[in-house]
Amino acid sequence: MTVQSITDPEPLYEDHLSALNARMARALKTSEKRGVLISSGSLKQAFLDDHTYPFKVNPHFKAWLPVVDVPDSFLLIIPGSKPALFYNQPLDYWHKPPADPEGFWTQHWDIQTIRSTQEMHNLIGDTHDLTFIGEETQVATRVGIGSVNDKRILDALHFDRAYKTPYELGCLQRANDRAARGHLAARRAFSEGRSEFEIQQAFLAAIRGREKDAPYSGIIALNEHCAILHYQHYETRPPAEIRSMLIDAGATSNGYAADVTRTYAFRQGVFADLINALDIQQQAIIEDIQPGMNYIDLHRRMHLRLAEVLREFGLVDMSPSSMVESNLTSTFLPHGLGHLLGLQTHDVAGFVQNREGVILPAPDQFPALRLTRPIEESQVFTIEPGLYFIPMLLDELRSQSTASDVNWPKVDTLLPFGGIRIEDNIAIQNAAPINLTRQAFAKQDDE
Ligand code: GLY
Ligand code: MN
Ligand code: MN
Repeated sequence: MTVQSITDPEPLYEDHLSALNARMARALKTSEKRGVLISSGSLKQAFLDDHTYPFKVNPHFKAWLPVVDVPDSFLLIIPGSKPALFYNQPLDYWHKPPADPEGFWTQHWDIQTIRSTQEMHNLIGDTHDLTFIGEETQVATRVGIGSVNDKRILDALHFDRAYKTPYELGCLQRANDRAARGHLAARRAFSEGRSEFEIQQAFLAAIRGREKDAPYSGIIALNEHCAILHYQHYETRPPAEIRSMLIDAGATSNGYAADVTRTYAFRQGVFADLINALDIQQQAIIEDIQPGMNYIDLHRRMHLRLAEVLREFGLVDMSPSSMVESNLTSTFLPHGLGHLLGLQTHDVAGFVQNREGVILPAPDQFPALRLTRPIEESQVFTIEPGLYFIPMLLDELRSQSTASDVNWPKVDTLLPFGGIRIEDNIAIQNAAPINLTRQAFAKQDDE
């Protein structure tokens, strides 16, 4: 494994802002506009209710600054000028208004406190040469901006977002460090025989976050539940017999996401050996990564590696290449090898091949693949192979001609374990893959 310590993000923030300014200047050239107003987003009420959903900030807003929990705020970006933040601090005694902005980033912003959109409009004045990025298009109309979420501008910005600045890499390493702490606490809770719910609580306590602070709903799956790819429940009681746990749970730092999965066996045996075998193949495919490769090829190579595991364990008696060609491996691995990662767990533009927004869709054989771009310097993506025993897909396989090559009694002994996924976050730096997740776990081991 290439080990590279990733620098702390704070001293790199100014350069990050310069990089975003350059990207924005280039994106705006596709329009007649001089600058952009970006909204943080607004709280949304549930239907016929007076309570709101948890706030999720506009990713274009948090790209610029580590502020993720202040609704109805705005950025005014005019490349070449100091960026402005209109920070919404309503007078309120029902809720706690956002605290005054503070931190390493504030000195780089012209910050104005507002209590209404009108106040912001008065401060900006003329808006005719601005474009708007945000969900609340009615706000754009109210302040006189007609150009909203211009596709050409978004295509360019989304394409560029795959290339992380050094500041972003620092944030992604921190998010992984935080997630690794959660994973270790969860593994401890699993080994103590706790329920899915209790394991989730242990994870959240260790990352010091609420569910809404996690980048996605954590998956804590025991036994057969490991075969449900996006298992979304937390059983409050442990099963009578505990066999396996799949935990896919992340954390954030400055708005950047870690997306990490580990699978554990409760006892030694074939399933534990299978986890080890997949772990070896997962690390080997990461070692294979080189800039210039296409991610689709990597995905195909992973299917070949999975086929080798299936054969080695006597689950399928067929050559690895035939297993992939006949699509048999997709029964055991129906999802993609991974996806771009950053401000969002499934970061944008996994299919986008250039700034003009040209799309290369997933190949017909692998429709769930979310990433078809060539691998390049400064990208960050996940590598998350799996090996699942999914009853619905196995039932389909039973009626196919390749079914006779499957050792069904052996498959049936593994059904109660559900399946395996091992997911790491990989950054391409100096033409080599850096495993942010394994580095994070190694740091925890050292502490
Ligand atoms: N946690 C969602 C994923 O791995 O893609
Ligand atoms: Mn993932
Ligand atoms: Mn995941």
